[in-house]
Amino acid sequence: MIKRNDPCWCGSEKKYKKCHLWSDSCLEEKRTEKLRRIKHIPPKTKEEINGMRRAGVFNGELLDYLRPSIKAGISTEEINSLAHHFTVNHGHIPADLGYNGYPKSVCTSINDVVCHGIPSEKAILKDGDIVNIDCTTIVDGFYGDSSETFMIGSVSEKARHLVMVTAQALIRGIDAVKPGRPLSVIAEAIEPYVLSEGCSVVRQYTGHGIGREYHDESFTVYHHIDTDNQQTVLVPGMTLTIEPMINLGGWKVVLDREDEWTVRTADGSLSAQFEHTLLVTETGVEVLTLTPSQIAANVRLLVDGKAFK
Ligand code: MF3
Ligand code: CO
Ligand code: CO
Repeated sequence: MIKRNDPCWCGSEKKYKKCHLWSDSCLEEKRTEKLRRIKHIPPKTKEEINGMRRAGVFNGELLDYLRPSIKAGISTEEINSLAHHFTVNHGHIPADLGYNGYPKSVCTSINDVVCHGIPSEKAILKDGDIVNIDCTTIVDGFYGDSSETFMIGSVSEKARHLVMVTAQALIRGIDAVKPGRPLSVIAEAIEPYVLSEGCSVVRQYTGHGIGREYHDESFTVYHHIDTDNQQTVLVPGMTLTIEPMINLGGWKVVLDREDEWTVRTADGSLSAQFEHTLLVTETGVEVLTLTPSQIAANVRLLVDGKAFK
């Protein structure tokens, strides 16, 4: 039996009482008193859930549409333009454009760029690059948000390892989602695995609640272990993103001083990311940003267009 002052089982190097004691005790049967202190997020209505499903599918289709073009020789501006026109031609809104002043319709993050890379005519994809394309669409007022990291041509063994670990990290995070569990189960599924593969989890940027808002701030989805997430319970009807940013080196990041958007690894190491928008169901989880054909084929994630099951 682990004692209050023992080091926590999760490897955080904190005392058990300062770390997982509280969430562990909430998961026990006699938890009525503790439940009052837990943050419950109001579930979405049936109509809202259907709105989220439509937004998720469209965003998945947008990534499907872009996938064949993500090749050596294309500029990230061309990818941005393809995404922008596909979205508006279908009567929808690219959520990134103008969001807090962001200048483009998607984020394109190459190699050591962790997230929020700004598409540019000068950034041309080349053999050996890894690039994350993060798309978000507003469909009839609801947001769908997903991203993939693509390997361009033949990439180094290290880069491939990072991309595969990151894909696996997202899948492990998704599989941890079950109603009644604390939100912290996501980070607990992701961080120890990522560390065991010699990579690190970015802390500065997180997953989020999502719905009629892009970043619903009623809760934050950490990918690294943090006591804050022990107080929020996953309930059916909650919609959220999981979007781990994983580095080959350390977890620290720096913001570009000039454009004030581009986030890079502090040590210059490679970084990868995958993202899905999810719905907590009565029994587990539904991935909203998969397309019907991907669901029919039991695809969990596509990595370079190949099914990751
Ligand atoms: N799509 C990103 C996310 O997953 C946010 C991008 S915001 C932008 O949450 F302004 F940089 F586009
Ligand atoms: Co997101
Ligand atoms: Co995103």
